[in-house]
Amino acid sequence: MMDISKSDPVVIVGGGAFGLSTALHLSRAGFHNVTVLEKDTQIPPRSSAANDLNKIVRAEYEDPFYTDLTIKAIAAWKTSVFAPHFHQTGFLHCVSGAAPDKARATLDRFQASAEQHPAMRPHVVRLDGKAAITEHVWQLQSGTLEGWRGYLNRYDGYAHSADALVAVHREASARGVRFLLGEEGDVGGIIYEDGGPAGRVAVGVRTRSGRVHKARLVVVAAGASVAKLIPELASRVVAKAWSVAHVQLTDDEASALRGMPVTYARDLGFFFEPDPKTKLLKFCPMGAGYVNTDKTSGVSLPPQSLEESGFMPADDEDKVRTLLDHTLPWARDRPLVNPALCWIADTSGSDYTIDYVPKTGSSVIVMTGDSGHGFKMFPIAGSWVTDLLEAGAEQPIARWRWKSAPRDGASGDWGADVSWRLGETKEFRDVKPPGAKL
Ligand SMILES: Cc1cc2nc3c(=O)[nH]c(=O)nc-3n(C[C@H](O)[C@H](O)[C@H](O)COP(=O)(O)OP(=O)(O)OC[C@H]3O[C@@H](n4cnc5c(N)ncnc54)[C@H](O)[C@@H]3O)c2cc1C
Ligand SMILES: *[C@@H]1O[C@H](CO)[C@@H](O)[C@H](O)[C@H]1NC(C)=O
Repeated sequence: MMDISKSDPVVIVGGGAFGLSTALHLSRAGFHNVTVLEKDTQIPPRSSAANDLNKIVRAEYEDPFYTDLTIKAIAAWKTSVFAPHFHQTGFLHCVSGAAPDKARATLDRFQASAEQHPAMRPHVVRLDGKAAITEHVWQLQSGTLEGWRGYLNRYDGYAHSADALVAVHREASARGVRFLLGEEGDVGGIIYEDGGPAGRVAVGVRTRSGRVHKARLVVVAAGASVAKLIPELASRVVAKAWSVAHVQLTDDEASALRGMPVTYARDLGFFFEPDPKTKLLKFCPMGAGYVNTDKTSGVSLPPQSLEESGFMPADDEDKVRTLLDHTLPWARDRPLVNPALCWIADTSGSDYTIDYVPKTGSSVIVMTGDSGHGFKMFPIAGSWVTDLLEAGAEQPIARWRWKSAPRDGASGDWGADVSWRLGETKEFRDVKPPGAKL
């Protein structure tokens, strides 16, 4: 255990997925002076990538490390605080007949991961063609499912992410965690003092309104904006966005799709069981995402205002319409509602970074690099911080250590090598609709 006592003040910057989970785990571990600072005025924060109806919780990965971690997370999703928000509806994972080879190869690796793992194997069925698919997922019978093949994994499902954030906020508050929201929670910077030859030591944070919050430990869980607080990360963590949009269903339409699995065509995108409360059917088109590179600094950060991200790029909309055509053609021409680009912290290998910031005397921990697959870990992410405190000065999990090697280019094909991404990453300014609010 590093030199920190349970009564020392701990400040968590960010009330999104990683920050809230950390607040819960620290309070469960006995820390009793924990404060979460969140710049939005509400939980779920509108600026959190997890402020959303639903996120996929699937355990198969091309990399067994994250498979095993998700299996732990799914067990935790079934415990009291989380269980109401986890829905084990299954995951229908396919390629369409028009999918490029890269998408097919990726699907095959995911399928092998699911079929080989002892926990998942009994829940996996191979499906080739419309007849086989609709035998298990009758809700898609009106679709063409042209050339679709893949598998259904009943071990997986989805989580209602906004509701889960609210539940953990409530639970952490009940356990005595303090929450400062809005102006009072908008952190402008970490305050350091000279730490002698070893470097510097954080003594707290300063809000933009000028207030100082003292801390023995600062945990930075600022999502896509992390490089604003820890500029050294700007060369390795890139703010990147994917788009979402919804189709409004009637009560009967939503009821008819009840219980359907998350449906994912690797080359087109995915959608979820309709939200029972709002009857919204949520879509995410597949692609390599968008970056917002500052031409001078070469650094990608989310745009200043949320309103700027309130649209879906035209190519993405085309993919959603094609996906609907293949699956639920009766909804193909419906208006898309609540479109948005949603910003995450991306790294070149899709690995998280959960570590002390070097030369801070173990006074700052950063949780970043969620790379778009962090929400499924919501019930356990905070335990990585308590584990790190137990471990002492070095992160024992090598892949989560702070990395010093900078990435090659400032923009362009960043992340294109990641096997599961299709197409080219584009610049936000190139897809923003003309006349969009600045
Ligand atoms: C379109 C889309 C689809 C996704 N689908 C999935 C999925 O299917 N499955 C899955 O597992 N994951 C999914 N994700 C990823 C998931 O949402 C993220 O991995 C997760 O939200 C990351 O958590 P975080 O805490 O790092 O960041 P966030 O949840 O974004 O939270 C960061 C918080 O920090 C706050 N903040 C930032 N700077 C400051 C500051 N200076 N002061 C105070 N507060 C600050 C922000 O307001 C925000 O609330 C998806 C993401 C996107 C964009
Ligand atoms: C928490 O820590 C702060 C900063 O040191 C201190 O001012 C405050 O009194 C502490 N609160 C509790 C309940 O110990």
